[in-house]
Amino acid sequence: MFYDDKKAHGLKFSPFKALVAPRPIAWVSSMDVAGTLNLAPFSFFNAMAESPPTIVFAPNNPRPSGGSKDTLANIEQVGEFVVNFCNWNLREQMNQSSAHVPPDVDEFKLAGLTPMDSVNIRVPRVREAPVALECTFMFRVRLPSNNPKIENNAVFGRVVGVHIADELIVDGRIDMLKYRPVARLGYMDYTVLDNVFTMDRPDESLEDYEAKRRSRAAE
Ligand SMILES: Cc1cc2nc3c(=O)[nH]c(=O)nc-3n(C[C@H](O)[C@H](O)[C@H](O)COP(=O)(O)O)c2cc1C
Repeated sequence: MFYDDKKAHGLKFSPFKALVAPRPIAWVSSMDVAGTLNLAPFSFFNAMAESPPTIVFAPNNPRPSGGSKDTLANIEQVGEFVVNFCNWNLREQMNQSSAHVPPDVDEFKLAGLTPMDSVNIRVPRVREAPVALECTFMFRVRLPSNNPKIENNAVFGRVVGVHIADELIVDGRIDMLKYRPVARLGYMDYTVLDNVFTMDRPDESLEDYEAKRRSRAAE
């Protein structure tokens, strides 16, 4: 099949998000100037650069009550946020933290999670999360929207601190099958990482690739 702006897909639900899948989930903790905490998942999310480590996510649709999502409003006020990662054990809490609740409701409490001090920023991370990226706000790009009631945004963050649960590190590498991050598919579907395969590049091994990266960094 083919569809575009002029030709409808004719399916019961838009297939777009099921096609661009799986998407990692940024489980973003943020804080307003008064110190009220906020936590919400975002699956329009990815890493964009490694040096400096840079991420982007998209707090898009307005809340049912109108206005920007609390996450975006907080980040613009305070200039910092944490991208926490959700594993299999935390899937229910992550889902619960997406509830549309007023700005003064702390989703850490709502989902039974523990805020823990960050190292380089004031916004706390989720203690239960296996991985967390402390970020400073770089900038927001307003994206086009086909619906005047919906705003689309890309928020860029620079990673200024990385937390990894010690038990995930085996022989100097992240053991993905211990990590088991949860990722978003389309509809109300998710997947969990439960298999890994390896392919060397046609012209370089992992050792070659890392050696080149280190020598570029040293220049
Ligand atoms: C797994 C998952 C992924 C989500 N991804 C996004 C997303 O990429 N962009 C978005 O605007 N909302 C997304 N949402 C919805 C937000 O989490 C939800 O609107 C939340 O209430 C926003 O909270 P806030 O107003 O406290 O920022 C997602 C929800 C779930 C459960």
